[in-house]
Amino acid sequence: MRGLLFSLIIILFLPFILLGIIVYSWRVRRVIIPHNISGTAAEPYGARLAMHVAGTRIDNAAYRITEHTILFAQPVRFLTLQTMRLALKITNYKGFFFAYPGPRPSNAATMMSHRTHFIDRSMSQAFSRTEDPIEQLVILGAGWDTRCYDLPKDLDLYCFEVDMAPTLKVKKQAIEKAGLPHSHVTFVETDFNQESWMDSLLESGFDQKKITYILWEGVTMYLTDEAVNSTLALFSTLPQGSVIGVDFFTKDLVKGNPPHETLSKGMHRAIKYYSEKIRFGIPTGETLSEGTEELAERHGLRLSKFENIGDKDNKKKIPWYVFTEMIKT
Ligand SMILES: C[S@@+](CC[C@H](N)C(=O)[O-])C[C@H]1O[C@@H](n2cnc3c(N)ncnc32)[C@H](O)[C@@H]1O
Repeated sequence: MRGLLFSLIIILFLPFILLGIIVYSWRVRRVIIPHNISGTAAEPYGARLAMHVAGTRIDNAAYRITEHTILFAQPVRFLTLQTMRLALKITNYKGFFFAYPGPRPSNAATMMSHRTHFIDRSMSQAFSRTEDPIEQLVILGAGWDTRCYDLPKDLDLYCFEVDMAPTLKVKKQAIEKAGLPHSHVTFVETDFNQESWMDSLLESGFDQKKITYILWEGVTMYLTDEAVNSTLALFSTLPQGSVIGVDFFTKDLVKGNPPHETLSKGMHRAIKYYSEKIRFGIPTGETLSEGTEELAERHGLRLSKFENIGDKDNKKKIPWYVFTEMIKT
């Protein structure tokens, strides 16, 4: 009933939302792409904002910077997020798209809340452990992630946000303009396909001897096989107990192998819209996690958490996206 009411109100608000989408798309084509700023980074950010306005996963830092981001600055914030918030408030609807942690098995519509929950859980467990406490946080391909600005109050962590220069510059400006405290954060520019992020980090004050949590969310699919392997090889040089949270598309999805032919084409097309390209997918093997286990072992790591969207025992829901956590042993 609430879902129906929500849909009716959304239909009423449709002219606002459509106008918001038009302005957003214009900004993608005319500002984001010409300036080589990541457009795909706005997708998970948009999903976290949707959960925030629904009140299912509060992310104040993410919402505070909207006004200073290119894509969500007014009138887009009003036309999309605020109309959605009003519709959600009137109906008290918290349905599948806005749900957190969301339904399982998850699917294409709910994968972002599943991914966010997986990473949130991995980080909070790592941060709360007493043995081998985490001393540094590095976010590789940080995009609009705002976890550095929302850390538990008792956690004294130094953070590094790593991304390509154009994306990182606008992110830093937004953080500054929004007045978010960021003296504990260092912004590090790099291109994983071209140079060693570890060298860039070390030049920025990163301490390779400290136990580190590396968040590498929503990035591997844009990288070459070599860049993915060299990143894990570099991670494996960190002290025992260091953790990396990382997600992978499956190789079958990236290659368009059955049964993912249509989805694969759609996914490649969607990413091409942002002038970006999907490259890397993880082999799944017999057990779905086989490829990830092999990758972890190759770099002396232990696969400590593994989840997937879909259901490997249901032919209609064959998984094509996996969420993993690896630990340096
Ligand atoms: C889909 S976004 C994910 C952003 C963020 N981790 C999140 O989940 O919200 C991918 C991010 O990886 C960055 N990225 C992609 N390829 C990269 C590369 N070769 N070197 C450095 N950063 C890269 C993009 O600039 C973008 O910010």
